[in-house]
Amino acid sequence: ESTLGAAAAQSGRYFGTAIAASRLSNSTYTTIAAREFNMITAENEMKPDALQPNRGQFNFSSGDQIYNWATQRGLQVRGHTLAWHAQQPGWMQSLNGSALRQAMIEHINGVLAHYKGKIGAWDVVNEAFNEDGSRRSSNLQGTGNDWIEVAFRTARAADPAVKLCYNDYNIENWSYGKTQGVYNMIRDFKSRGVPIDCVGLQTHFTGGSSLPGNFQTTLSSFAALGVDVALTEVDVTNSSTTQYAGLTQACLNVPRCIGITVWGVRDSDSWRASENPLLFDGNGNKKAAYTSVLNALNSA
Ligand code: G3I
Repeated sequence: ESTLGAAAAQSGRYFGTAIAASRLSNSTYTTIAAREFNMITAENEMKPDALQPNRGQFNFSSGDQIYNWATQRGLQVRGHTLAWHAQQPGWMQSLNGSALRQAMIEHINGVLAHYKGKIGAWDVVNEAFNEDGSRRSSNLQGTGNDWIEVAFRTARAADPAVKLCYNDYNIENWSYGKTQGVYNMIRDFKSRGVPIDCVGLQTHFTGGSSLPGNFQTTLSSFAALGVDVALTEVDVTNSSTTQYAGLTQACLNVPRCIGITVWGVRDSDSWRASENPLLFDGNGNKKAAYTSVLNALNSA
């Protein structure tokens, strides 16, 4: 196959990208995005600050702009993200305790009501752990340690069909404290019947030629708990071809690794553009890393 999406589909997987609404008027960008990818994540437009700028007043205009752009082209959409310490609207940042807990529940209910039946999977909770595997302190964590499971139970009740994911970065190395912290939470959720369907490993890689230790073991270990795994925000400093090929192969080697999403189209679109971390250069040309990923997908 000659595109990332079609090549990934050969093994029943998807290949996605993050899309920014502000770039949808750029035809180089949209041409590549629609041709190469079959799963779309809104880079910022479905986050709490975008969707509920004022309490009780949802604004789905930018999120829907991305949703409609994608689905009109036959592309699927991942939801990102319902509950996070960052990118909260100002009114939410100033809440705490039971008022914040209630606002989180209302936000999840409002967003899932709007996107019910439209989105396959949501990052319900994003980035809730510290590097050592303890919980990150935030206003949400301050509402009680059970805030994460409340978010997942709320989401399941609001839309029983949508897949519910926990999403984080630096959970790729199996020997890392944060990986173990998240792993233990998923295991606990599964043992107690807290609804969770998937783990998103953001996969923001930095430098070097080898992958974080035992990356594939991390994927298979999460999967063995009974959840799907996905690489949700991939980018690699200077687009190391060996790291890009290796992370693709690791996903292909794990049956429950359901897809890969890169965090942007061209290097110039990236949140870390100076590190040239994506598969297309600023002019929209395919980079060597693109070929290494496509070849890995095609030889699966
Ligand atoms: O849109 C405004 C613009 O009007 C304003 O003039 C400008 C001035 O700062 O800011 C613009 O908003 C920026 C927005 O990106 C859109 O470009 C925000 O400042 C900036 O903070 C925001 O950054 C985003 C970041 O999340 C914020 O947390 C990045 O685009 C986005 O790629 C990044 O994505 C996160 C994932 O959601 C979670 N994992 C890590 C990943 C990378 O940080």
